Amino acid sequence: MSPEHFEGLSRFLLSRSGLSLTPDKTYLAEVRLNPVAKKHGYANAEELVVALSGFVSEQILNDVMEAMTTNESFFFRDEVPFDNFRNLILPYFHKARAATRRLRIWCAACSSGQEPYSLAMILDQMSGMFDGWLIDIVATDISQEMVGRAKSGEFTDFEVNRGLPADFRRSYFREQGAKWVISPALRTKVDFRVFNLLDDLTPLGRFDMVFCRNVLIYFEPDTKAKVLDRISKLMPDDGFLSLGAAETVVGVSDSFRLAETGRGLYRPNVDMKCAV
Ligand SMILES: C[S@@+](CC[C@H](N)C(=O)[O-])C[C@H]1O[C@@H](n2cnc3c(N)ncnc32)[C@H](O)[C@@H]1O
Repeated sequence: MSPEHFEGLSRFLLSRSGLSLTPDKTYLAEVRLNPVAKKHGYANAEELVVALSGFVSEQILNDVMEAMTTNESFFFRDEVPFDNFRNLILPYFHKARAATRRLRIWCAACSSGQEPYSLAMILDQMSGMFDGWLIDIVATDISQEMVGRAKSGEFTDFEVNRGLPADFRRSYFREQGAKWVISPALRTKVDFRVFNLLDDLTPLGRFDMVFCRNVLIYFEPDTKAKVLDRISKLMPDDGFLSLGAAETVVGVSDSFRLAETGRGLYRPNVDMKCAV
């Protein structure tokens, strides 16, 4: 793919999903876009990219965006965020929201669903503590394909053997042919939706806890700052944000500050001390 065509593809992805592509990804772009080109009747990736600057269907635009997105995810990824959720965040909100018994959690780039389902399993294990509470887990992703997979609650053998403790697999999954299907009780605990983080976030409502993990890493600095700023506006002063292991707000945005406790945890940056 010529540098100009790669430049055109980069501009398209930046405006559609925030994905920032560096020129060293030219080969990757060709490998990923060749099958999309074939599917839609173009000779190759370059011809497909040329077509993007004219009138093409929403389906083609979406297929190009999806092909260039990284959807890697697994259950209890990096462990620490889930230990924080179990040991710090839930006990904190158990006290802090005792009057309303209401909690809203958002997984902002949920991919195939392992992250929100990991949270739902932890909540299920602690259900005695939250008896009578109304707890929402909203899980969103820009990829229609990933949201569809997440909603199906179906996972491969490889996926359920990656990060998921064996006793959780026994309790929450049923083997069905070559697939593992999550229990209907857990499935209904998560509200999956297609949603672009570059869009207005306010229709999603307010959230006490936001998991925005392993997606900002693909954005340019000003997009990261904008998204973080908008997320902070959806949260109460004592809310929590969890980012991916390779992500931070430090030097990126003033909307959040490091939480006093809990590795990789952030609080909205307000003039108050929230002791956990
Ligand atoms: C690497 S996965 C991270 C999944 C999960 N959060 C984790 O840490 O395991 C990144 C996800 O971000 C999604 N994504 C990329 N750009 C997005 C955007 N603008 N809005 C919403 N989701 C986006 C991709 O579709 C992909 O599923």
